Amino acid sequence: MRRPPGTAMIVRMNDVPLTDLPSHVEWCLIQAGVWEPAARALLGDVDITVRTAADMGCGPVGWLPLLLERWPELRLVGVDTDQRMLEEARGRLAPSGTGTVELRGEDLFSSSLPEAAFDLVHARTMLSTLGWSATQLAGYVRLTRPGGWIVVEEPDTTSFEPPPGTSAMAELLGLTREALLLAGKELDCGRHLDELFGDAGLEPQWRVAVVTLPPAHPYHLLPVILARQHADDLAAVVDAASLADLMLAARRDQQRHPEWTATVTLVQAWAVRREDQ
Ligand SMILES: C[S@@+](CC[C@H](N)C(=O)[O-])C[C@H]1O[C@@H](n2cnc3c(N)ncnc32)[C@H](O)[C@@H]1O
Repeated sequence: MRRPPGTAMIVRMNDVPLTDLPSHVEWCLIQAGVWEPAARALLGDVDITVRTAADMGCGPVGWLPLLLERWPELRLVGVDTDQRMLEEARGRLAPSGTGTVELRGEDLFSSSLPEAAFDLVHARTMLSTLGWSATQLAGYVRLTRPGGWIVVEEPDTTSFEPPPGTSAMAELLGLTREALLLAGKELDCGRHLDELFGDAGLEPQWRVAVVTLPPAHPYHLLPVILARQHADDLAAVVDAASLADLMLAARRDQQRHPEWTATVTLVQAWAVRREDQ
């Protein structure tokens, strides 16, 4: 099962007969739906005047409509490298007040957005997905005006309990954690957001959002979708055929346990950029 060093192989997920899985865009929409109540709760607690905001790696929806709903006069920027995501986001945004939305197809690591221009900068699941957490956080601090808020949301998948008597999902999650660590990323970096913020010179407040999914909810596919999303990294720890078998087994386990419910966790951390930063 474990690939010996030096024999890495590219996993071509098109070869995997898992055709009924949600697309990446659909998955981001499912994820945004699961975490919408947590987002609303946090947005309700923002106690500064927000006229400008950026959602980094916004995907097909991210926080964009929620930000506009909360501050209808907002000048809002969404950043994503994937034009399909931005197309989807464009179709979902209908500014109702005098707010404006700019969707920028650019890499958040080399963004040309102006420094200290935003009252609020948000990023969800971008540290766990892309790594380079210190670089990302430093970038978000740079974009935020002194006195503005930096908000980061990251998962803690350790609360995800697969159906009793099954092993494929746990194995997939374990391999994904290991593969991401080898690639310099941390799947469950929600557990360490306070340290990451501290290292960036920020004093975070944080809270934990926990959702027990309804039976048969599509977000139960989390281990399978994460494996698909990180297939390139997984090639360092598992061969393509074994990964495909595990994904199929996990999918089957999910379908055989329609009554099963898992618990998912998102850690939300936020901090104010100090005047001297
Ligand atoms: C897991 S999705 C999260 C979407 C959104 N943040 C949310 O939680 O609803 C990751 C998103 O980051 C985008 N992305 C990946 N690499 C990026 C980069 N270097 N710069 C900007 N966006 C990126 C992907 O296209 C995708 O839309």
